[in-house]
Amino acid sequence: MTARLRIEGVSVLFSGLRALDDVSFTVEPGTVHAVIGPNGAGKSSLLNTLCAIYPVTFGRILFGDREVTGLRPDRVAGLGIARTFQNIVVSQGESVFDNLMVGRHRLTRTGVIGAAFGLGRREERAQRERVREIAAFAGLSGKLDAPASRLSYGDLKRLEFARALCLEPRLLILDEPVAGMNEAESARLGELVSAARDALDLTIVFVEHDMGVVMSIADRVTVLNFGRVIADGTPEQVRRDPEVIGAYLGGDPARPAGLAGGESAPASELVADRLTEGPSS
Ligand SMILES: Nc1ncnc2c1ncn2[C@@H]1O[C@H](COP(=O)(O)OP(=O)(O)OP(=O)(O)O)[C@@H](O)[C@H]1O
Ligand SMILES: [Mg+2]
Repeated sequence: MTARLRIEGVSVLFSGLRALDDVSFTVEPGTVHAVIGPNGAGKSSLLNTLCAIYPVTFGRILFGDREVTGLRPDRVAGLGIARTFQNIVVSQGESVFDNLMVGRHRLTRTGVIGAAFGLGRREERAQRERVREIAAFAGLSGKLDAPASRLSYGDLKRLEFARALCLEPRLLILDEPVAGMNEAESARLGELVSAARDALDLTIVFVEHDMGVVMSIADRVTVLNFGRVIADGTPEQVRRDPEVIGAYLGGDPARPAGLAGGESAPASELVADRLTEGPSS
């Protein structure tokens, strides 16, 4: 079973710079929850605190009844929390299949004694079968033997997503899963994220600049600006929120400088369209 994620008053300071400032919000179990905001707002820092890569200076994070803050990153993985990174991190020289198998090693239980009785081979077969299932789910079946270096950019992003699924997570954290993809690829990966949530009893937290994907797959959206939460609600609520509109414009919401000048529509509508349709950066 997945669990509720609670971020309670979290601040992260880097030698004077406040990357996160008293951030609190809740991610309900089984939901797809987006974190958005302008460049440098603190989104990746937040994801890094969720898997204990960055220590929190103040506040705490709870996944179900377990406290994440203060754990070592490998212990966080043991709670069933998996993530992907903003920059692609796969072993380019290895096959797609081998990249996916890396995700299974944490789950292998067979020790030396078990291996001597042939349990290792049976377990290995089960692991390989599961990897094939996940690859099929991610649309990578035909590419299992290819070296990762030969994959298209879109397939690499899907490989990263599939590798995170291979950890059988209860909480999946994705940093810009569709960044750099074309519109069709982005829509397809967005559908895959929703399908994974439905099929695998997952809670998903993702950071994304592609507002088309955010608005179509997120159940709820938290908006950060300068390390603070400025809005938290349904996609429809946040895209109409004046403070969110102001943050994306980088100034006065009533004066949308540089945004398709000359229109007579109110600024809030112009930005709402931009938040609905396309990447923000
Ligand atoms: N390890 C670090 N050491 C020092 N400062 C950091 C570190 N990580 C992030 N920061 C700073 O914290 C702030 C927030 O950065 P972060 O990467 O979290 O933003 P972001 O919202 O993910 O931005 P983007 O949309 O560009 O990916 C920035 O000012 C950044 O320079
Ligand atoms: Mg980032």
